[in-house]
Amino acid sequence: MNLILMGLPGAGKGTQAEKINEKYNIPHISTGDMFRLAIKEGTDLGKKAKEYMDQGELVPDEVTIGIVKERLSKADCQDGFLLDGFPRNTAQAEALQDILSDLDQSIDYVLHVDVPEEKLVERLTGRRVCPTCGATYHVLYNPPKVEGICDKDGSKLIQREDDQAETVKNRLAVNIKQTQPLLDFYKDKGYLVSVDGDQDIDQVFEDIQTKIEK
Ligand code: AP5
Ligand code: ZN
Repeated sequence: MNLILMGLPGAGKGTQAEKINEKYNIPHISTGDMFRLAIKEGTDLGKKAKEYMDQGELVPDEVTIGIVKERLSKADCQDGFLLDGFPRNTAQAEALQDILSDLDQSIDYVLHVDVPEEKLVERLTGRRVCPTCGATYHVLYNPPKVEGICDKDGSKLIQREDDQAETVKNRLAVNIKQTQPLLDFYKDKGYLVSVDGDQDIDQVFEDIQTKIEK
């Protein structure tokens, strides 16, 4: 199954991607995670991405499209993939059509996790992540068993740099602008499926399963 998860920052893409990956065993490809790894490793890609991410801006298309193309060409994506956070504008969506056509692949569903804008600031500023395994928590909505500690490996949880209140505002504005044209693009192609993301995490996942197993 070839899936795309769409949604504004904080809509729950990463949270649902973890669940989809566990249940259906398809590789989770998050451009945000790839950039964060490159920053951690201090590579040229990381240095370039950081300039944009720290401002809440999008990393330039040619950089982003290049890393997705390379990743989708790997053998583990032959039997399905889950794209999270890519594409984020119509130029990326068009590039993806070409990449997939070269690979003789196509999209099954574009899942739009829909959450009212006013809920997103609280979700982002309350998010905590594990620097070791990447698990995502929320101080109120998805707290770990022990405050500040990852359930899976005992690491101390951290806050993402771009989840500081000042950056969150610009990230949301930048992404809101790109969303409607992208929704229209996939609606026209008949791939778009909307899921109500303003429900508890397990209910959102239930709805996703119902829609993709139809
Ligand atoms: P990226 O890492 O993709 O960030 P994002 O799109 O801003 O999305 P988030 O990871 O913030 O949110 P999410 O939807 O995954 O929410 P989550 O599940 O964590 O991108 C970061 C940056 O990289 C971008 O700003 C850009 O600079 C760059 N970039 C990435 N891709 C790019 C591209 N294609 N082109 C150009 N640049 C790109 O949930 C959020 C919080 O809410 C968590 O605390 C969670 O526990 C909680 N939560 C989740 N679901 C629920 C629920 N149902 N109810 C209550 N709380 C919930
Ligand atoms: Zn962890």
